[in-house]
Amino acid sequence: MCGIIGFTGTLDAKAVLTEGLAELEYRGYDSAGIAYVTKQGIKTIKTAGKVSCLKEKVESIKEQDQTTCGIGHTRWATHGGVSDINSHPHTAGRVTLIHNGIIENYQKLQAELEKKGKKPISQTDTEIAAMVIDDYYEGDPIKAIKNAVKCLQGAYAFLIMFQEFPGKIYCIRNGSPLVATYTEKGAIIASDMVALIKYSKDYFVLPEHHIATLTTDGIKITNLLDQPVEPKMLHVNWDMASARKGGYDYFMLKEIHEQPEALRRTITPRLKQGLPDFEEDNIGDDIFQGLNKIVITACGTAMHAGLIGRNLIEKLTRVPVTVEIASEFRYQDPIIDENTLVLVISQSGETADTLAALRLAKEKGAKTLSIVNVKGSSIARESDYVLYTHAGPEIAVASTKAYIVQLAALYLFAMRFAYVTNKITKEETKKMTEEFTCVISQVEKMISCDEQVEEIAACLVKTEDLFFIGRGLDYALSCEGSIKLKEVSYIHSEAYAAGELKHGTISLITDNVPVIAIATQKDVYVKTISNVKEVRSRGAKVILITRQDAVIDASLCDHIITIPKVDDIFAPFCAAVALQYIAYYAAVKRGLNVDQPRNLAKSVTVE
Ligand code: F6R
Repeated sequence: MCGIIGFTGTLDAKAVLTEGLAELEYRGYDSAGIAYVTKQGIKTIKTAGKVSCLKEKVESIKEQDQTTCGIGHTRWATHGGVSDINSHPHTAGRVTLIHNGIIENYQKLQAELEKKGKKPISQTDTEIAAMVIDDYYEGDPIKAIKNAVKCLQGAYAFLIMFQEFPGKIYCIRNGSPLVATYTEKGAIIASDMVALIKYSKDYFVLPEHHIATLTTDGIKITNLLDQPVEPKMLHVNWDMASARKGGYDYFMLKEIHEQPEALRRTITPRLKQGLPDFEEDNIGDDIFQGLNKIVITACGTAMHAGLIGRNLIEKLTRVPVTVEIASEFRYQDPIIDENTLVLVISQSGETADTLAALRLAKEKGAKTLSIVNVKGSSIARESDYVLYTHAGPEIAVASTKAYIVQLAALYLFAMRFAYVTNKITKEETKKMTEEFTCVISQVEKMISCDEQVEEIAACLVKTEDLFFIGRGLDYALSCEGSIKLKEVSYIHSEAYAAGELKHGTISLITDNVPVIAIATQKDVYVKTISNVKEVRSRGAKVILITRQDAVIDASLCDHIITIPKVDDIFAPFCAAVALQYIAYYAAVKRGLNVDQPRNLAKSVTVE
């Protein structure tokens, strides 16, 4: 949510900021703005609309001198509608800032400021934060920031400029992410690495409640006691090309195509002599000791990966697993203790509810393991153990490659757990990992079914409501298929356990209502097909996703998508690709911006 960037150095700051904002736009795209230092003081340009609108506005203003210091913001509106005035940066007195997060007590603070005769001009919580800092400011920026944050409740990452300190950017965060780097061209800080990768692959995460001061000479970090702190440097192993579309129409399509490689990077280094091995992840087998329950918690697509994970972990280990929506779990007073493993899944590693769920689990004494894609993110840093997925940067709002590698990490976890607790033998484990490795090439084959799915998706252009049905792993997949379709194509859909449909919802099946039936699991195949017949005989148009070797009565469905031959437990990897393509092509055929769906943003850092 919201992308922020700050730069001070020798380059043209306006160019650095607008280019950086274009990279960060996937985090929010309601409005955008920059503020930069000129000889006449700090100037702000902001506008409702996309970064391209901001860029036009910026380019239309000819500056006499080059500007080398500034901050930029691309917004996902929370408090205050989408308008020029509510766009960031916000200025109050001598303070100009940008913010990612939510100041929860802004109304109370606003009332206090109004008593002093100070009134905001926007409807945002951010302007109030700027006013609070300005209120405390008496010539010492760090003192003002430290005093102000004592009053602020909520999540924030602030980049702040003070009129009297041109060339300096002050930064602090609580919850919301900030990563930074320094090169000979200057100091740069942003919400995530996609904006920094052009300048360096080495970076650090600004620790929470520490103040970073960016100058052309470097970045100084101090804690709230004014003691200097050395940041821990990290390195990313992807490059600029990973953060670019590279000839694809949309990032989502590019990321679907990147799945075999992402799987390879996530699985292969973790197989030693045919056995899953987490030594390089510093996860010893003691993690499994004494475990009598696993709770998986996550949001959205990551939670759907958890649904598949539950199925597999229970099947292989017979240890009970529940899957909890993180925003519910955190307010549920969950029953967990030191014999529970709380397994947290997150692409970004910054999702506010998932992070809060992790913190609660730790507070209650549970062991915590996270499956995370972004290195050094809050969830990764705060978990007892981390299994990084290696999808590389995921830019499309709709998660595809991050989901498939979350599945891969869960499968590796389940296999190792089953193996070390003697639920499966060494030979069985080896056989399973062998088949698992073959899945990568089967996913590759699946990627090439795009033309067929494109044709099928064309039939959905006018669809308003649709159902996904399946049983077991296929039901878990249905949940993912449904969210994917909804978020990018705006077609309303629901995922139903195939056997549950007739307990009410089948009343919604009428002539030509599409039903996407997933039937990849042999043990429940016949049952699911019975359910397909039920909807078919009520007029539904059926798209069936099934196994290559299934014997299918042609009258059963209108369209069929088959997945390559894989063992049942690995079918989700292939079927997921078909579901992603259905969502993608339905959205494209409806003329939508697939990468930036309405009302959404990547990385939900607010509750
Ligand atoms: C849907 C999607 C979201 C995320 C969810 C959690 O395609 O991407 O549902 O899965 O917001 O995000 P992370 O995984 O970053 O915690």
